[in-house]
Amino acid sequence: MDLADFFAIDKLSQSDEEQLIESAMQLQQVMMLYEAGIREIKTKLDTLNDESRICGKSSPIDAIKSRIKTPRSIIGKLKRRGFPITLQSMLKNLNDIGGIRVICPFIENIYTVADMLIRQDDLTLIERKDYIANPKPNGYRSLHLILQVPIFLSDRTQPVRIELQLRTIAMDFWASLEHQLRYKSDVQVPAHVSADLKACADVIAATDEEMQRLAKELHVL
Ligand code: GTP
Ligand code: MG
Repeated sequence: MDLADFFAIDKLSQSDEEQLIESAMQLQQVMMLYEAGIREIKTKLDTLNDESRICGKSSPIDAIKSRIKTPRSIIGKLKRRGFPITLQSMLKNLNDIGGIRVICPFIENIYTVADMLIRQDDLTLIERKDYIANPKPNGYRSLHLILQVPIFLSDRTQPVRIELQLRTIAMDFWASLEHQLRYKSDVQVPAHVSADLKACADVIAATDEEMQRLAKELHVL
């Protein structure tokens, strides 16, 4: 929004202004729910890592990143999919407003972390996509989970769905760079470049397997 548009709010009628404030507050409430959902799951992940550390085991998690979709991107996705642009529709139709990326050292760590979350009574598994066992045709690998987490409010419990992407450091390396190449490039990616990217993904996957084998040999896993 540029500055002129922002100050145009000054020119709104009283009732338009009230409506704008009401919509902004509702949006803020929904964002708060997703922030709470992310916090809940992050706490569970931190506990798992602490437990391993205290037991003298290697950490199954190397890093955790999280993000909340911007209102512009939420509205864009609702429009593209033909859903109504309302807060109820956001809660019902979108699974990736709140997202967490869990980066693990080794492939096996991914399944340990995922199983630990799925076992927890307060979390409900809505969807599981294993792009490690079944990589995407372009070479993308990660384990995707959609988890539903209850948020306890003063007068009700509101479930929210959070998207989790679990990857090794190596898978994250490829996915981050591939994303940059695809989105930052102003030209359409030619077929031979896609093929080379896929070849990189396969080399990285083989190295991931090899590192895991070494970790097992040294009893780190
Ligand atoms: P969208 O979320 O709309 O994409 O639909 P979906 O639920 O079918 O997607 P999916 O679960 O396959 O992937 C969701 C997210 O995973 C994306 O928003 C990306 O963050 C990541 N992802 C999926 N495929 C790729 C890929 O080919 N390359 C990279 N870098 N990331 C990917
Ligand atoms: Mg998405």
